[in-house]
Amino acid sequence: MNAADLYPGKPGDTGEHVPASPPAPKKKSTVFVKELSERDRCRILKHFLELKESDRLLRFGTYLPDEMITKYVEGIDFSRDKVFGVVNSRFKVVGVGHLAFAPREKVEHGVEATEKDKVAEFGVSVSDSARGKGVGSRLFKRGAIHCRNADVDTLYMHCLSSNQTMIHIAKKAGMEIHREYGEADAYLKLLPADASSMLKEAMQEQVASLDYTLKANKRAAVKWLKTLPGMGD
Ligand SMILES: CC(C)(COP(=O)(O)OP(=O)(O)OC[C@H]1O[C@@H](n2cnc3c(N)ncnc32)[C@H](O)[C@@H]1OP(=O)(O)O)[C@@H](O)C(=O)NCCC(=O)NCCS
Repeated sequence: MNAADLYPGKPGDTGEHVPASPPAPKKKSTVFVKELSERDRCRILKHFLELKESDRLLRFGTYLPDEMITKYVEGIDFSRDKVFGVVNSRFKVVGVGHLAFAPREKVEHGVEATEKDKVAEFGVSVSDSARGKGVGSRLFKRGAIHCRNADVDTLYMHCLSSNQTMIHIAKKAGMEIHREYGEADAYLKLLPADASSMLKEAMQEQVASLDYTLKANKRAAVKWLKTLPGMGD
């Protein structure tokens, strides 16, 4: 499965992404990854629209204009795919991981890695302000454990081979990487689900739900306070 199957454009042939050297590590705090739903659609869209052109290229394999991003977000089927998110203290979505399920015929490289009829492809993006804090890695790990628990044994990812950060995350997770014509297809073999993987995902979701609710309530309270006379800016 290739980004070009999903999004029209010229995959990977535009602009030169100059690989940067790894930045100095930032302090990593606890990252809560929550499954997002229909009610988050607008905030997911806002996250994608704030990605700069070069990040859109890295995320989608092509420079997607705002209209195409809007179409993509409107087209997310929350009943079929899984979308995971990370929200900051102001309840803004700062990281999105989209796990799209597809028939195995859609896979270009590494199809032999799976015997299942269904495969999953993962795409991830993190807002500039939240990078280097472990958000992308946590989203990836959550996607992988979800696949495991959903009886999917192989997780695929497609990115440009110049995408050093994503390649680093993929390698650290033990992904096999197949590079060709400036693009990289990576796949990760997953163990079958067991009681511990089920429990781990359920616990992560519960804690993340609590964090999400607290942040949502805080934001609602701040908004309400601002409507009171003399409390606005
Ligand atoms: C790729 C992306 C999701 C990473 O998000 P993130 O939250 O910054 O990732 P993390 O903080 O979890 O991890 C980054 C890791 O890459 C390393 N890294 C950062 N820049 C690097 C570089 N230029 N070369 C090699 N490694 C790099 C960091 O040191 C860190 O490694 P560590 O966990 O071993 O310390 C984010 O940069 C992004 O949204 N990019 C644009 C979209 C994209 O590329 N999506 C992937 C294709 S689907």
